Amino acid sequence: MKKITIAIDGFSSTGKSTIAKQLANKLHYVYVDSGAMYRAVTLYAMQQGFISKNVFNFDKLISDLPKINLIFKFNSALGFAEMYLNGMNVENEIRSLEVSKLVSKVAEISEVRRKLVEQQQQMGIHKGVVMDGRDIGTVVFPNAELKLFINASAEKRAQRRFEELIKRGDKVTFDEIFKNVQYRDHIDSTREDSPLIIADDAIEIDNSDMTLEEQFNNIYKITLDKINEVS
Ligand code: DC
Repeated sequence: MKKITIAIDGFSSTGKSTIAKQLANKLHYVYVDSGAMYRAVTLYAMQQGFISKNVFNFDKLISDLPKINLIFKFNSALGFAEMYLNGMNVENEIRSLEVSKLVSKVAEISEVRRKLVEQQQQMGIHKGVVMDGRDIGTVVFPNAELKLFINASAEKRAQRRFEELIKRGDKVTFDEIFKNVQYRDHIDSTREDSPLIIADDAIEIDNSDMTLEEQFNNIYKITLDKINEVS
């Protein structure tokens, strides 16, 4: 069977990465979480003191971009690749609410996007990749054979993210998560460079009222149909 490129886009906390991981495991494809890369650059900027609630020294971040090395290393015990920033495993840190609050600002910077998009395109050069993000079907892989756009209500998404963070032991309230989801929706879809939009040829799926199993079965069927169509 021919290997294809699968682009999965959508708003934050729609469960894109869960679907993308399941699909990649089932098809033996590589899974790339492009949001993890934006989060790792944000963490770097936080560590260097370039960004905080009231400060954003984006010139310093831009000039430091060549010093930021991002790689994914597959963790066979977990069954997915973890994010390494300059040799350090940052998989846990990049999921914090602090990073979530600042990442949309970093993702607005064109120089950051250019660097990350280039690396993402390299990772998909041999196809057989499932990548999730905001601009995968529109900018990173505009020729992807399969493009999915995942959606769910903001309340459902905030509830899912809230439960995830509580499970990890983070001290957060539903209200601040809900506000963060709405804030990121706004910035991600109104920024000038590569805003989150639905590609013309994307299939839209609203999973607000679907179980994980229903969703996976639905998407897996769509994927196999597409692979057969292009093979
Ligand atoms: O998918 P996520 O919530 O982990 O993404 C974190 C942020 O990174 C999100 O608010 C917007 C940004 N992002 C982006 O601009 N483009 C991508 N391809 C992926 C993420």
